[in-house]
Amino acid sequence: MKIGKTGEIGFCFGVKRAIDILERVARERGGVETVGAVVHNQQVLQRLAEIGVRVAQGVDDIRGDMVAISSHGIAPKVEEEIRARHIDIVDTTCPFVHRLQTAARRLAKSGFFVIIYGDADHTEVRGVLGWADGKGLATLDEKIIAKLDSLPRRLGILSQTTQIPAHFTEFVKRLIDGTFSKDSELRIIDTICHDIRKRQAQALELANRVDLMLVIGGHSSANTNRLAELCSTATKTYLVETAKEIKPSWFQGKHHIGITSGASTAEPTIDEVIARLEALA
Ligand code: F3S
Repeated sequence: MKIGKTGEIGFCFGVKRAIDILERVARERGGVETVGAVVHNQQVLQRLAEIGVRVAQGVDDIRGDMVAISSHGIAPKVEEEIRARHIDIVDTTCPFVHRLQTAARRLAKSGFFVIIYGDADHTEVRGVLGWADGKGLATLDEKIIAKLDSLPRRLGILSQTTQIPAHFTEFVKRLIDGTFSKDSELRIIDTICHDIRKRQAQALELANRVDLMLVIGGHSSANTNRLAELCSTATKTYLVETAKEIKPSWFQGKHHIGITSGASTAEPTIDEVIARLEALA
């Protein structure tokens, strides 16, 4: 069995940065809290819990006088709420997410109705909608916009950082076809993360050359699910969170296996998957 892996694997720049900050603060203060999970990866969260990182489920659940914002960022109103309680903030928001937040704010302030191509329930997207000050919505289905009671004339279109670029382009095209009228004004800003773009391109290229792809990452991680979705367009693909989920039957008749990972998957988890594959081979 031949095993190949993508060049971009393991933590992305933003997750690595957030975890480095958290580790430093936890070391200095003997622990730290985060508002919500800092990444969507159980193994990473467990390791952080061991060094004193506690996940507060919301603002009311913060016990100490300092809290860290995750790499996904938060809405300005939530930040104000935290500061009003005299709780200090450690901001680990990824710079790519912050770029999206400021784009949303700029558009909303200039009178555009902000449309975010993304999962409305995702922490990052909920935060970005807050930066648009309620003047926007998030969806993966452009038909929702055509159904709005009064269609805004000026539309600003952004993407969640982890979406698939080709899908974003298709969404915009369909939106133009379905909603554009003679008075419309459209502003589109590409806010997809550079790391994710590279990761997806490499994963797809590898998936086209192998018999089976393993995408390693959290089952609830948005970017891991997008990677698996993309790879499955080229070859048989399984999303696994840990080596324990791997089933030997998957590899019958498969000779070349490709490996990639989501942006919040730690190196040891990837090493365990490779070791398991080598043992099976
Ligand atoms: Fe940031 Fe992109 Fe990672 S948005 S957190 S570098 S996936």
